Amino acid sequence: MGEKNHSEVIVQPLTPVIGAEIKNMDLGGNSSGTNFELIKEVLHRYQVVFFRNQDITVDAQKDLGELFGELVTHPNDPGLDGHPEVMIIHADESSKRIAGERWHSDVSCTDEPPMGSILRMFQVPRYGGDTLFSSMYAAYDGLSELMREFLSGLRAVHDGAPYYTSVNRKIGRKDAGEGYPKAEHPVVRTHPETGKRGIFVNEIFTTHIVGLEKSESDLVLRFLFEHLKKPEFQCRFRWEKDSIAFWDNRCTQHLAMWDYWPEVRSGYRVTVKGDRPF
Ligand code: SIN
Repeated sequence: MGEKNHSEVIVQPLTPVIGAEIKNMDLGGNSSGTNFELIKEVLHRYQVVFFRNQDITVDAQKDLGELFGELVTHPNDPGLDGHPEVMIIHADESSKRIAGERWHSDVSCTDEPPMGSILRMFQVPRYGGDTLFSSMYAAYDGLSELMREFLSGLRAVHDGAPYYTSVNRKIGRKDAGEGYPKAEHPVVRTHPETGKRGIFVNEIFTTHIVGLEKSESDLVLRFLFEHLKKPEFQCRFRWEKDSIAFWDNRCTQHLAMWDYWPEVRSGYRVTVKGDRPF
């Protein structure tokens, strides 16, 4: 699927591997439902899709997410007032950290990690604040046959506690009383819709590989965390006011670049429920 016309809608890839912008689609009206199949097709091919000039309401953003599944709340974020399933992504002069500064897939510490996330940015810095996305299909395909075989039977633990407690310490927020999710997932997962295989460990949540000695597990994870950051697996998105990024959390990782302090960057994210990785 290269650049092509769907009546007036244009799909413009960012790289051959990952990322495509869908142009001339209005996500604010009732048309999102009509566009569902096209968005899904482009998401499956490019793993992250981008839209520009989407000055849409919170309800329209939620409606868009709900086309793809139930929305979920975040285990360490109270969400927007009256909309607990809307996460506020915000940084300004007084911020001590930002969300997603290291490569990760969202909330992989749950038994059923999100299918995807939809982020709309309504305030952006003059420059900087890009988000980088990496294709876990490409990262998997970039391994040798022997390494793929070695990884294929392995499972890894994803623990929310170390990351979320460190976030809370930094920003002076109390930890959630009932603790944080922890889950075990295959190191290589199969996408339930495309059938493609991708690496599913990340440096925010994955603590160790089950059944390996700690030193062995540390070495393998360190290798994978470096491997999946290779530029040839990536695209980089330059935000404008009212841009939207919709990433498939099952086959990508992303990193938010905090190079714009003390400027402000603000947006809302909705997160769509996923299923148990296999
Ligand atoms: C995130 O959801 O990890 C934040 C992404 C971003 O702010 O670009």
